[in-house]
Amino acid sequence: MTPTRKPTVTIAPGVEMPLLGFGTWEATGEDALAALEAGYRHIDTATMYRNEDQVGRALRESGIARNDVFVTTKLPAGNAGRERETLEASLEALGLECVDLWLIHWPPDGDASPAVWERFVEIAEEGLTRAIGVSNYDAGQIDEITEATGVAPAVNQIPWSPVLYDPAVVAAHRARGVALEGYSPFKTSDLGDPVLTEIAERHGVTTRQVVLRWHIDHEFVVIPKSSDPARIAANFDVFGFSLDAAELVRIDALGL
Ligand SMILES: NC(=O)c1ccc[n+]([C@@H]2O[C@H](COP(=O)([O-])OP(=O)(O)OC[C@H]3O[C@@H](n4cnc5c(N)ncnc54)[C@H](OP(=O)(O)O)[C@@H]3O)[C@@H](O)[C@H]2O)c1
Repeated sequence: MTPTRKPTVTIAPGVEMPLLGFGTWEATGEDALAALEAGYRHIDTATMYRNEDQVGRALRESGIARNDVFVTTKLPAGNAGRERETLEASLEALGLECVDLWLIHWPPDGDASPAVWERFVEIAEEGLTRAIGVSNYDAGQIDEITEATGVAPAVNQIPWSPVLYDPAVVAAHRARGVALEGYSPFKTSDLGDPVLTEIAERHGVTTRQVVLRWHIDHEFVVIPKSSDPARIAANFDVFGFSLDAAELVRIDALGL
């Protein structure tokens, strides 16, 4: 098979992020290794998932060159004030000198926390992470940390799927130059929806594959999780078809 370059989005400061990644909440190192073997080159972990050491082992066992895989981890909100030691512990567990993306997992105490973001900016300048971002932030919170530091987050990771689609949320991210990364694409979807089913049948794929392709065709990053090797592979097998404009509009309408 000819190796194909999988689609990426360029995030600040000029880092290429694969649009399809492997989520590791409740996943093991074996699952991460299966994902790497299936072709994923983007792994999403977090301090809170307590599997960074397993992900690190999978990265080494895969034999994939460091620069060929994109690794995200996240600061637990409760570790605000201990940013550096938390990232250093993540790097130690992962066996990496730097991650590609480091996120504030949730707004600490529900607050945008510009002081935490200021330390993210400093630590990124030191090279411990190539890009920095947030998760579960709203547009107002993104503005607050951007105004405080002059640096916007590269990414905001939020729950996302066709039923959660909201053009105002998309526009708010695009206007700020923040890449929209979706999580829980399946858990938040109605996978039996007739529109998804009809489109899936037309392409000879599953409704899950349609949901993933909908993200990719919109340039939303998506990080499905599975602990089953066949399902891990099926979730990566979405590069043999694409959705046309009319199909995207019909799927978008599920969230309107
Ligand atoms: N930033 C945040 O606050 C946050 C919050 C939640 C999640 N996340 C990230 O987003 C990732 C994905 O979200 P998620 O894990 O919540 O949910 P998800 O990816 O939407 O769904 C995972 C569930 O779907 C099942 N599944 C996956 N592929 C399947 C397939 N092809 N056929 C049948 N069932 C399938 C999995 O079961 P099996 O494992 O048995 O296949 C699992 O129960 C997480 O792993 C994590 O990395 C981030």
